[in-house]
Amino acid sequence: MTDRYASFVQSGAGRALVKRLGLPDPPRLRRHTPGDPLLPGPVLLGAAGGSRLAVQVGRMLLDAGVELRDTPASGDPDPTTGQLPKNGALVYDATGVTDSTGLRQLYDFFHPQARAVLPSGRVIVLGTPPAECGSPREATAQRALEGLTRSIGKEFGRGVTAQLVYVTRAGDAGTPTSLEATLRFLLSGRSAYVSGQVVRVGAGPAAVPADWNRPLAGQVVLVTGAARGIGAAVARVLARDGAQVVALDVPSAGDALAAVVNEIGGTAVQLDLTGPDAPTRLADHLADRHGRVDVVVHNAGITRDRTLGRMDADRWDSVLDVNLSSQERINDVLWERELIPEGGRLVAVSSIAGIAGNRGQTNYATSKAGVIGLVDSLAPALAGRGISVNAVAPGFIETRLTARVPLVIREAGRRMNSLAQGGLPVDVAETIGWLAWPASGAVSGNVVRVCGQSLLGA
Ligand SMILES: NC(=O)c1ccc[n+]([C@@H]2O[C@H](COP(=O)([O-])OP(=O)(O)OC[C@H]3O[C@@H](n4cnc5c(N)ncnc54)[C@H](O)[C@@H]3O)[C@@H](O)[C@H]2O)c1
Repeated sequence: MTDRYASFVQSGAGRALVKRLGLPDPPRLRRHTPGDPLLPGPVLLGAAGGSRLAVQVGRMLLDAGVELRDTPASGDPDPTTGQLPKNGALVYDATGVTDSTGLRQLYDFFHPQARAVLPSGRVIVLGTPPAECGSPREATAQRALEGLTRSIGKEFGRGVTAQLVYVTRAGDAGTPTSLEATLRFLLSGRSAYVSGQVVRVGAGPAAVPADWNRPLAGQVVLVTGAARGIGAAVARVLARDGAQVVALDVPSAGDALAAVVNEIGGTAVQLDLTGPDAPTRLADHLADRHGRVDVVVHNAGITRDRTLGRMDADRWDSVLDVNLSSQERINDVLWERELIPEGGRLVAVSSIAGIAGNRGQTNYATSKAGVIGLVDSLAPALAGRGISVNAVAPGFIETRLTARVPLVIREAGRRMNSLAQGGLPVDVAETIGWLAWPASGAVSGNVVRVCGQSLLGA
């Protein structure tokens, strides 16, 4: 589905009209193509006094080929134009902020730079998880960082995104790779439609890829619901990044599924996930063909909308079964048969409806909140085996599912976010890809919204 308004706005005539009438102005977002530099310009790196990550982050960015600036040099305006040099990203290590008065250091860093970020640039603040802070004052100040990053995401415009990354103190020795994977994702065009998020990087094991352009090389990945929409995009992105993809969908979608696997060189499994023998048949296929599955992406999902009073039990049951219970049954069989090895990854697709609720979607929102419950309960349980469990929660993504939404509600869904446009399936796929990388081992228990910082929900 195309967003005709966004295409018009990005044309010459459209730009003039939008400016004159003060209409929503969706920017063209920077998206990833393999071989792209991480950023369109330098990174300005700053740190509060006593911070613990800036040196490590600076080294990482230099290794990634990024041009680094420090605050004093970049603070000098151009003598002829009077303007500050523009940056591709502003990265600030705030782990040294130990009380609320120390937050002033963030104002001092960001205030002069507010207009000096390139289009589709990035703002990233690093903090310590409040629960790990040594005093109530430090925990208060670290929690306050969320308000700053979420507001910057709403304020800077032109496709600039802003995130807060809480990096555990407990696992300093084990975190560099996972922090690197997260920074690479957030700085790159892969995270085009992710903004206003709080990501937690813990202390699990993580492997550095031989080539950051193929971060999934050698991984066997299962993607459910892969015949179209978001699932097909996930299959394509993960294959592009080096994975061997096993693509699953219902038999009636066989032709579309075959087209996807032929394009990416994967294998197809035609299976209705709700069938009584589906978990066993799937496990047999994975065991026979690959002997294991490194990454499971639970993407298949359906909607059967009605307000609760008008909803028959079939609508309730089918949505809960496809979107939640079938995931649990499959997980159980894959664990029992030990098909997910140490270092495995589980990524499930939730929805902002599962966070905010939605009129007419009690069944869907229940199932998608359940997916978040699955992450909350499984992530700590599987941490000891080095298996990470995360979810993505898409907002308005341009697919057949959203094409069915009535026009007025569709337009509202598209525009009511910081980027003033719907996301593309590839945006969800790139986010799932990052969570699936072997390098993202310490990123577990997160629910990352891919919603352009939608106004709906928390
Ligand atoms: N499109 C959005 O804006 C949006 C927003 C939030 C969440 N999501 C979620 O993202 C996921 C993908 O959504 P989409 O928009 O690509 O939907 P879609 O309807 O285009 O694709 C879903 C796929 O899942 C498959 N599927 C459904 N039931 C199945 C079953 N029983 N067994 C096997 N496969 C089955 C379908 O055949 C289809 O190919 C879903 O979980 C959806 O809830 C989508």
